Amino acid sequence: MCGIVGAIAEREVREILLEGLKRLEYRGYDSAGIALISQKKNGDPFIDTVKTVGKVNKLQSAVKSSKLSGRVGIAHTRWATHGKPSVTNAHPHRSGEDIALVHNGIIENFEALRSVLVKEGYGFESDTDTETIAHLIHQRRVKGDSLLEAVKATVKRLEGAYGLCVIDNNEPDKLIVARSGSPLVIGVGIGENFVASDPLALGQVTDRFIYLEEGDIAQIEREEISIWHKSKKVKREITTVLHQAGDTEKGQYQHFMLKEIFEQPRVIQETLDGRVSKTSVLEQAFGIEAPAIFDQVQSVQIVACGTSSHAGLVAKYWLESIAKIPCQVDIASDYRYRDIIVQPGTLFVTISQSGETADTLAALRYAKKLKYVASLAICNVATSSLVRESDISMLTMAGQEIGVASTKAFTTQLAILLVMAIVLARRTGLSAEKEKKLVKELHKLPHVIEKTLGLHRQIKTISKQFSDKHHSLFLGRGIQYPVAKEGALKLKEISYIHAEAYPAGELKHGPLALVDNKMPVVAVAPNNDLLGKLKANLSEVSARGGKLYVFADESIKYQSEKRIKVINVPSCSEILAPIVFTVPLQLLSYYVALTKGTDVDHPRNLAKSVTVE
Ligand code: M6R
Repeated sequence: MCGIVGAIAEREVREILLEGLKRLEYRGYDSAGIALISQKKNGDPFIDTVKTVGKVNKLQSAVKSSKLSGRVGIAHTRWATHGKPSVTNAHPHRSGEDIALVHNGIIENFEALRSVLVKEGYGFESDTDTETIAHLIHQRRVKGDSLLEAVKATVKRLEGAYGLCVIDNNEPDKLIVARSGSPLVIGVGIGENFVASDPLALGQVTDRFIYLEEGDIAQIEREEISIWHKSKKVKREITTVLHQAGDTEKGQYQHFMLKEIFEQPRVIQETLDGRVSKTSVLEQAFGIEAPAIFDQVQSVQIVACGTSSHAGLVAKYWLESIAKIPCQVDIASDYRYRDIIVQPGTLFVTISQSGETADTLAALRYAKKLKYVASLAICNVATSSLVRESDISMLTMAGQEIGVASTKAFTTQLAILLVMAIVLARRTGLSAEKEKKLVKELHKLPHVIEKTLGLHRQIKTISKQFSDKHHSLFLGRGIQYPVAKEGALKLKEISYIHAEAYPAGELKHGPLALVDNKMPVVAVAPNNDLLGKLKANLSEVSARGGKLYVFADESIKYQSEKRIKVINVPSCSEILAPIVFTVPLQLLSYYVALTKGTDVDHPRNLAKSVTVE
């Protein structure tokens, strides 16, 4: 995914910008570029640009052997969505000699805007949507607008998502930035200021940040920062982030697993940023070739291992209910040795945190010999083998996951899979109105997860009742069955308590025989059409002396009784429920393991990335 860094200072900024890009490398990219406002011999400002394809160190070498120098500048790492990775398509993009800009996000109406600009005589050098923005700003500048006015007028014409940072050598003492759907943060310095798509990029120069809000436009000068929202000048708070605990530090948390559970609201937001506009999903975010591939899809085959396969099982329900597309989910170690019959029009999807899981990779290599439409990897590591070997990919933005038990990787996978289901549903009749409703729900997700994390104290208390148990059952119905499976996997892998997940309707076909007063039974009960049936199944458990722990949507007002402990989960829509209900189960397994004193982050016999068969 793309990254932005900008700086305005009294000192040289090129090394600051390059270091910022280095710090954004983890997000994945295919090319990079930098533009500085330099000075000609006669003192006149001009914009000088260096761009390269590949890693940031390539850009660093190119910059080293150039004369690039300046105190105001912008830089970018690009992940291609419109136009292949190339020097011409890399940012910054220019309009004439005067304007340069970097952009994160996708402009959905760029083709219409571009044809108007072409009629007006603008020539395009790149295939990108971003170049359109540069020319639109230029168009306003020649009509007499200031750079700020030109950007304000331009963003009104843009549909989709953007985080923008613009420079103009006729107004060399400012950066103009704008955000909608892609994050931007201003780094506040003394006599110098900065901007980036992620505060991590600026950790070397400041610890004070202004988080821009959706729709904000800002003018950043050396000594002053002015922000407008809906044409009104606004003040935004400066937040001091003394030390941003990186992915490899525990910070205030006792274990990485707990830290990673609590990071979920932020990383889910980062996973959605630039992939979803206010009202729709941005399918170009899956890659340049994605729309043409999605047009051919009639069914989906998902292959993954462990937690990632549970994400696939949830996605099956979404694909069938939202996109009305059949979906098959297989465990990679099984799939790779089967005779596979591929239905025409099937998209092959792998899901993996690491992108190096041996079985998943082998399954991809096997599938590539079969007649699938294409292969899509949903993965957390941009440089992984899985991403490199797949036709298209969509990265989860979970950041590095250190705890062996997968938590934030799982929920970010689900966020992407929901986006994918909506993208495919567009082709099978999902109306713009329905898409808008689903997207509205997606935007609520980080906040609902944040509220759900508030259950941690209550869950810690009940976890004590599990520590002397040897067995447990996890129950869910429909789309919540894979959630129950994920909850059971978490408990067994870090607390070593045997945990078995069942679709609640299956109880009486065998597992009910296991239920007695020593068997804790955990159930997930969102507010959906299956609630009545689930309640009936749970009565079967309590009637046999089983102790139930029910995570229930607070709106259903499920009452605790002698043998039923109800934990109210913040209310959420049916579509978000699998993601939201995963969180209390993660917390439960963490606190049970904590009480038992097991090695939470490095459970016995397990490895983070299973690169052998
Ligand atoms: O890196 P992957 O997502 O491909 O890994 C697959 C499984 O090994 C992994 O999800 C495993 O089940 C988790 N560590 C469980 O928490």
